[in-house]
Amino acid sequence: MKTQVGIIGGGPSGLLLSQILHLRGIESVVLEKRSRDYVLSRIRAGVLEQGLTDMLRAADVGARMDSEGEVHEGVNLAFGGQLHRIDLADLTGGKSVMVYGQTEVTRDLYAARDAMGGTVIHDAEDVTPHGLDSDAPWLTWRKGDEIMRLDCDFIAACDGFHGVGRKSMPRDMLREYEKVYPFGWLGVLSRTPPVHEELIYASHERGFALCSMRSKVLSRYYVQCPLDDDIAEWSDDRFWEELKRRLPEEVADALETGPSIEKSIAPLRSFVAEPLSWGRLFLAGDAGHIVPPTGAKGLNLAASDVHYLSEALIAHYAEGSEEGLKSYSDRALRRIWKAERFSWWMTMMMHHFPENGGFGQRMQTAELDYLVNSRAAMTALAENYVGLPF
Ligand code: APR
Ligand code: PHB
Repeated sequence: MKTQVGIIGGGPSGLLLSQILHLRGIESVVLEKRSRDYVLSRIRAGVLEQGLTDMLRAADVGARMDSEGEVHEGVNLAFGGQLHRIDLADLTGGKSVMVYGQTEVTRDLYAARDAMGGTVIHDAEDVTPHGLDSDAPWLTWRKGDEIMRLDCDFIAACDGFHGVGRKSMPRDMLREYEKVYPFGWLGVLSRTPPVHEELIYASHERGFALCSMRSKVLSRYYVQCPLDDDIAEWSDDRFWEELKRRLPEEVADALETGPSIEKSIAPLRSFVAEPLSWGRLFLAGDAGHIVPPTGAKGLNLAASDVHYLSEALIAHYAEGSEEGLKSYSDRALRRIWKAERFSWWMTMMMHHFPENGGFGQRMQTAELDYLVNSRAAMTALAENYVGLPF
């Protein structure tokens, strides 16, 4: 097989890149190691920055999001038994976020690729990049006993944190920066009405909690838990009781509980790989960086990477310009590090760190008290939450 851009990974990054390139007449093939059902079974976050919603609309993939998604002009912090609303629209000159599940974004991207005859190969095993330092790289993968080959001009590794792309870069030129947080998030999905019409990020001495949603009848909740907790020890009743204890009383009293339809514990980490390109290989999305979910930046960072990389590839094919490809890594990393900072800051401010002792907890309380009483501080949170410019 031959194409112009070989894409490893059929998650949001790979699919969005393939869709944008297609609309500009650039061919691509997506190699995804899992089945489509498996990819679409993964529960992920659901807060979309305007930069991403604009990209989806421009790529003819925004219709269902606009009809089923919810525009949120505010977000809430809960601490000291009180709810504090951050008025995103007022503080950012009218910007907002869209609440629409990443799984739905991925589903819409698959539908658009199918409708436009896109090539997404599932169950592609042992995908391996070759000739990255040549001008004619290629990908191989295994289909049963057969070894398949795809010749291409460029390879985009959109294969997530555990993918093969980053690991194919020479170890001596790759720098990796990482912080692993000493706790996890226990998440529950339930067919219940959200406890509040906007998201609530709660800081409590028992631990962090988050009240989010997927729709008016589907809620998503999280509580901070020890990394070594066993999910089997968290019955639904235990989860709901713990969540209520971490929320202001009026919110806890309004909480509608129900059976969990998904329940899992995820670790939190900050991670960045530098550079994001080597020869004809380019990393985009989780392949190049990971953020703790506290700032809702994971999918939105994947979007800005895809924005910069697609622009660079379009300039190469349309104008023979190499400038975008050469500057992709530096350009993407500038926005990535600012989103890493915001996600780290939100995580350090909102979670319970007993190891930081009484002084550390007073610092967190003072930071939250200052934040909700300072328009300047709330503006800083708001402009990061709605998304810094691409
Ligand atoms: N070969 C082929 N496909 C692979 C390989 C491989 N070696 N390794 C991983 N993949 C696939 C995975 O099965 C997955 O479908 O690549 C895809 C990567 O998708 P994501 O992990 O969702 O990463 P990305 O598309 O960058 O989206 C980032 O997803 O993980 C969340 O929080 C993250 O919201 C962010 C978003
Ligand atoms: C979610 O709805 O899953 C969600 C929302 C906001 C976050 C993290 C997760 O910061």
